[in-house]
Amino acid sequence: MPELVPIGSANQIPNGEGKAFTCGKHRVAVFNIDGAFYAVSDSCPHAGGPLSDGWLDGTEVTCPWHGWSFDVKLCDEDPKDGLCRYKVQIENGELKVEIPD
Ligand code: FES
Repeated sequence: MPELVPIGSANQIPNGEGKAFTCGKHRVAVFNIDGAFYAVSDSCPHAGGPLSDGWLDGTEVTCPWHGWSFDVKLCDEDPKDGLCRYKVQIENGELKVEIPD
């Protein structure tokens, strides 16, 4: 069973920005895109850059280190870009990230 890890209020992530959280052993970047929340690994598959500090353009985040970019929205697909994606639930304004076993 995946674990649902609470990360606090949705208000702490402004629209169009990302923020890093620690969920167990996972470092997760959570993005607010027009009130929808998406979570990916905060470690860029290229060399570990912090994607939570990257630039968002629509649903695409660009890594601040060397400019690789990823669509953060594809959590139900496997885009084969090496980036781990997580599901996010929102309940009464509180966010939870689904961490797989
Ligand atoms: S570490 Fe992200 S592009 Fe190099």
